[in-house]
Amino acid sequence: MRRALIAGNWKMYKTLADVDAFAAAFAGAVEGVTGRAVVICPPFIYLERLAQAFKGTAIKVGAQNVYWEDQGAFTGEVSAPMLKSLGITFVIVGHSERRQYFGDTDTTVNKRVLAALKSALIPIVCVGETLEQREAGHTMSVIDTQVRLGLKGLSQEQAAGVIIAYEPVWAIGTGRTATPEIAQEVHAHIRGIIADLFGESIANNTPILYGGSVKPDNIDELMAKPDVDGALVGGASLEAASFERIVKFKG
Ligand code: PGA
Repeated sequence: MRRALIAGNWKMYKTLADVDAFAAAFAGAVEGVTGRAVVICPPFIYLERLAQAFKGTAIKVGAQNVYWEDQGAFTGEVSAPMLKSLGITFVIVGHSERRQYFGDTDTTVNKRVLAALKSALIPIVCVGETLEQREAGHTMSVIDTQVRLGLKGLSQEQAAGVIIAYEPVWAIGTGRTATPEIAQEVHAHIRGIIADLFGESIANNTPILYGGSVKPDNIDELMAKPDVDGALVGGASLEAASFERIVKFKG
């Protein structure tokens, strides 16, 4: 049985005062909510602050990226052992904005996934097609390549610790959500690839999140789909009230 997971991706938003205000408003939000895990991924500099603020609650904190070396002369980078030392559990890997603006490729995504797993972090591996690729009919093959290369070389045991997020690039920050049917179709495809790579049992236990303009008014219908196990939420995770409603999806 896969437990639902709702993850917020704050991207490059919020000052320290905003972070504190959010934490104060949101800390009690998931009290008594069962059957779902909640993670917030702020910019690196706020990880510890947020982890402290949510101590004693069920809310977990995750990073938005990780470098693959443990340490060294890599100015500006943050490693998996560093995140682990803060008590961080999750890390987003291969977000389309990292691929688009910061040179991430399937090869570097794979290195980050392996580094995260080596430090016992749970990677949330993002895959998704662009509008051009969808319109050309290449969605499934693009996803296929991203999943297979992103998870290349993982052992069965490592694969059991991975979360996938399907985020169609055309739906991110555009207000254009994939229909629940599109999400279900691609999620089922991803589960099939995982089954092919690592077997049915791991595939059946792998959480597959949907991301791309998830809002309070579309979360319920997305979560109603059998292969949609949660959401990776950008814009709507920045406000405590809207993220709370998403966390409290019905179903
Ligand atoms: P969005 O972003 O919810 O603002 O579309 C999702 C994401 O990029 O993870």
